[in-house]
Amino acid sequence: MSSSASSSAPRARDSWSGQTGFLLAAIGSAIGLGNIWRFPGVAYSNGGGAFLIPYLVALVFVGIPMLWLDYAVGHKFRGSPPWALRKIIGGGEFIGWFQTFVCFVIMVYYGAVLAWGVQYTIYSMNAAWGDDPTTFFTETFLQVVPGDTFSWAPAWAVMIPLTLVWILVLFVIGRGLSKGVEAANKVFLPLLVILFLALVVRALFLPGATEGLNAFFTPNWAALADPKVWLAAFAQIFYSLSVGFGIMLTYASYLQRRSNLTGTALVAGFANSSFEILAGIGVFSAVGFMAHQGGVSVSEVEGLSGPILSFVTFPKIISMMPGGPIFGVLFFSSLVLAGVTSLLSLLQVVSGGLQDKFGWSPARSALVLGVPATVISLLLFGTRSGLNNLDIVDNFINSIGVVSSAIMFAVLCAVAGPRLGVLRAHLNSVSSVKVPRAWEPLVGIVIPVVLFIMMAMSIVDLLTNGYGKYPSGYVLIFGWGSVAVALIASLVFTLIPWKHRPVDARATVAEILDRDNDETPVTEGDAQ
Ligand code: PFF
Repeated sequence: MSSSASSSAPRARDSWSGQTGFLLAAIGSAIGLGNIWRFPGVAYSNGGGAFLIPYLVALVFVGIPMLWLDYAVGHKFRGSPPWALRKIIGGGEFIGWFQTFVCFVIMVYYGAVLAWGVQYTIYSMNAAWGDDPTTFFTETFLQVVPGDTFSWAPAWAVMIPLTLVWILVLFVIGRGLSKGVEAANKVFLPLLVILFLALVVRALFLPGATEGLNAFFTPNWAALADPKVWLAAFAQIFYSLSVGFGIMLTYASYLQRRSNLTGTALVAGFANSSFEILAGIGVFSAVGFMAHQGGVSVSEVEGLSGPILSFVTFPKIISMMPGGPIFGVLFFSSLVLAGVTSLLSLLQVVSGGLQDKFGWSPARSALVLGVPATVISLLLFGTRSGLNNLDIVDNFINSIGVVSSAIMFAVLCAVAGPRLGVLRAHLNSVSSVKVPRAWEPLVGIVIPVVLFIMMAMSIVDLLTNGYGKYPSGYVLIFGWGSVAVALIASLVFTLIPWKHRPVDARATVAEILDRDNDETPVTEGDAQ
């Protein structure tokens, strides 16, 4: 809270060209790798058709309310997480940076999975994996070393596309929000929908598709009594909607003053879940075909989730199918398109944070964030330990980093500064769908408690059983280490004094001057 904040001239903040640009980008962020490779397997192993019940409950009672909170804070305070949360209460900036660095950690490995997708789009054309996709994936392509060793040796087939992915996304981010992120989403998202629909239609006509769909949708009602199934549904919604760790907050901060926040959140939330269910239909039709060809039942098919589903099971299916190369290109290019728009949203959080705090241009922020991100990404995920590092970091940053940042964020909004009542009033003052009063205890108490239970269970499990087959030192460095790095970096960035005050492009001069006099956290009286 220093006076140095007003020492440099305010730099105009970018904004979306309109509500549609924002909506497309928000949907583009939500629809990502999680929809295609995570959801079908999670749903299948947590009750099949019955999973849709906890899943929809989680969407309506956790996903959408958290999305509303993200939108409210981002839009009201018009800043990236460090700036917006600092406006709530001085110390909130730390939580804002924590969200930002969680995004940083995610993006360095998320880019690697995109690089795999790029390479597999090419491999699909001639089924380069031959007749053993499992060995091809781990030994020929990733050249992965055993989990108890570590290697810095490059896996060139990953390094090269990974470098290209970074150049592309940094270029887009460097162009600024409307010319970069918005323009990219306007092309990539419709393209994704067209390609993916073509893929699903093709899959539905495969012999055996019905058996696959039956396996996917047949409800196992007993699963509803299992709390783990409910927790899996909450976790999936969180991951899939990208709520509670700065992404949607950042995107909403670039909205025009009069924007329909709650209605847009509903559209984004349901669009994401519809795509997710569509992905389940496509994936399980294809899996049904595979079972049919092998003369086995779907329950006997292995490898139905995570990297193995996309990079081993799908190649097997592609090889069996007439017109396989076209199906393969559709599948892997969809994966890449879905992932790119999510990766851009992760990058925009970090880039927006740097722009707000230091007054840098988008191009400069892209460079400052891009160099370390690319180097870390290549060294840790483009090398022969890449798959192991990715597996550990992904698990820890999601089950601890993302969840803890969402808990701290919700609690902060509930107890400090303007409180949830003011945020609800803000949402209702600009939106079509009105937020009911019950939203406040839901977001301020129920959701943080559920998330806390979820996180505590993961932590106890990790402390007692370790993670996977990796040695504990390895898990300590990459798993706990990735969370610790995010915490330390957040502390350092919080301690750096503000050189600049973010100002949005649509503010009048009077507003800019007014805001320069307004260094204090917002209070209840600030309600709109
Ligand atoms: N929601 C996106 C996805 O489903 O892939 C983006 C994303 C969310 C990426 C959370 C990574 C993550 F941890």
